[in-house]
Amino acid sequence: MRAHTTALLLALGLLAIPAAADENWTAPEAEKAKVNPIASTERDMSRGRSLYRQHCELCHGREGRGDGPSAKLHARNTRPPQDLTRPEIQANMTDGEIFWKIGTGFRENRKIVMPAFVDEIPSPDDRWRVVLFVRTLEKKEASR
Ligand code: HEC
Repeated sequence: MRAHTTALLLALGLLAIPAAADENWTAPEAEKAKVNPIASTERDMSRGRSLYRQHCELCHGREGRGDGPSAKLHARNTRPPQDLTRPEIQANMTDGEIFWKIGTGFRENRKIVMPAFVDEIPSPDDRWRVVLFVRTLEKKEASR
């Protein structure tokens, strides 16, 4: 009887999922496992940097601290970006995951938390170059 009630509650809980389904921004395992195909040559890195400045700095800030000019306004609407200079945040993301997040973006209750960049940065190689640059934002503890 108890198990039956739990199952019923679960079923009712499941009914609420459609509205909340996009609240989990987790890359599929196959995407997480993808390896950056672009070598970090100076040219690729500088392309990644300029794309970051053009598309990401607004929210993430020039150095990736989550303090870009739109960050506060954006946070009022949804939430602020994390500080990408923190080693533990970098360590928690694979290259494939960053690539996937840039491509898909993220919405929560129809609000854009982070825009998707497949149209604005249509070349996958360019999006991988942005990933290269995002990796350079990490600050080693000693230099802070
Ligand atoms: C309109 C503001 C905005 C723009 C523009 C934007 N982001 Fe984000 N981004 C966010 C927010 C907010 C989060 C935090 C979402 C969460 O995890 O809840 C985020 C999350 C991330 C994350 C995951 C780490 C984290 O903070 O959760 C990465 C990596 C990232 N963004 C990279 C980029 C890159 C690269 C670009 C440019 C191609 C970009 N973002 C453009 C707002 C933005």
